[in-house]
Amino acid sequence: MTTRKRILFVDDEEMVLQGLRRMLRPLREEWDMEFVESGVKALELMAQQPFDVIIADMRMPGMNGAELLNEVMRRHPQTVRFILSGQAEKDLIMKCIGATHQYLAKPCEPDALKATVARTTSLDFNLTNERVRALVSRIDRLPSLPSLYLELNKVLADDQVSTDQIGNVIGKDIAMTGQVLKIVNSAFFGLRREITTPDEAASYLGADILKALVLVLSVFSQFDKTRVSGFSIEELWHHSMEVAAGARLLARCEKADNIVVNESFTAGILHQAGQLVLVSNFPDEYAAVLLRRKNEGLSDIAAERVIFGTTHIEVGGYLFGLWGLPVPIVEAIGLHHQPMLSPERRLGALTTVHVANALLTSGVNATAVDEAYLQEAGLLDRLPEWKSQLESSQSKIAA
Ligand SMILES: [Fe+2]
Repeated sequence: MTTRKRILFVDDEEMVLQGLRRMLRPLREEWDMEFVESGVKALELMAQQPFDVIIADMRMPGMNGAELLNEVMRRHPQTVRFILSGQAEKDLIMKCIGATHQYLAKPCEPDALKATVARTTSLDFNLTNERVRALVSRIDRLPSLPSLYLELNKVLADDQVSTDQIGNVIGKDIAMTGQVLKIVNSAFFGLRREITTPDEAASYLGADILKALVLVLSVFSQFDKTRVSGFSIEELWHHSMEVAAGARLLARCEKADNIVVNESFTAGILHQAGQLVLVSNFPDEYAAVLLRRKNEGLSDIAAERVIFGTTHIEVGGYLFGLWGLPVPIVEAIGLHHQPMLSPERRLGALTTVHVANALLTSGVNATAVDEAYLQEAGLLDRLPEWKSQLESSQSKIAA
């Protein structure tokens, strides 16, 4: 049985509300929708009855969308918060980055809106998990979404963008350029010649991969001063790259479209970043996690549950959900140990990251491939092929 989702739309322009109402009429069976024209009215209505999702316009007189969503986050943390914004509102977007789960570009298509809402509300597992929320509220170093990433997004929104232009954006950040080139030239990418400039990197790797690298390098660099004995950031980095490359290989092996290929890589590279957040914010507690791992043979997530009541997987899903990364990526990060919790049963980043992580992790953190999930997705017979593909790519990297 499914319960009807309650969705609240807020826009100061009557015309826009009418348009939305008309456009969304076919969804009346699935959604309970309310439409109000100001933040004040929205808060009044929310005080009377709970909503699953709020979708607010960014520019409104009086209380703007950023202010509204910040207030909603405080009063109704369970409500999933979307902002509708135009391209040129970066300054405002920065103001509600922690309060917003997703950004929807204006004008928005009904199908895209419907799909995003449907998928995000199925992400309840991490967006509304009380323990994660409680933990994250204790974090004073919650990493911020790198502005370089936002800038790249802006440049890439233009279909005509050249790799030179992408290179220029990255090139402005010297430290980032150095790190990107170091990674690009590492064995993981298996390029035949050395890449020496960011625009070369863009044309070799594709813009999406480059964007993922910028994202993960920013996350890692915000934490690289952390020292917790028994925790190796190099190991984590190595594992993340390995899973990213593996997940992408599986997507390619299934001839998945480019979006899935790139999402697999991005999610793979970020799948364990929640651990960095925990390690750097709670070094003493994390030392206790590692001690349990050593003395009791617990896996990281089992020990994290004991110490924190939640895991790096949930924290990662939560963080990247807050940052508004595409839902398939957030889902792949937040559910890579429990793919069955996803409503989807088809090949996507969740599938590739789950399988690559399971096949490429050994020791106390080893997990099994969820064969029942693959069965339901009609992919179980592909598993032997995936195993052999991953094995041969591993031996290439080692060589
Ligand atoms: Fe992993």
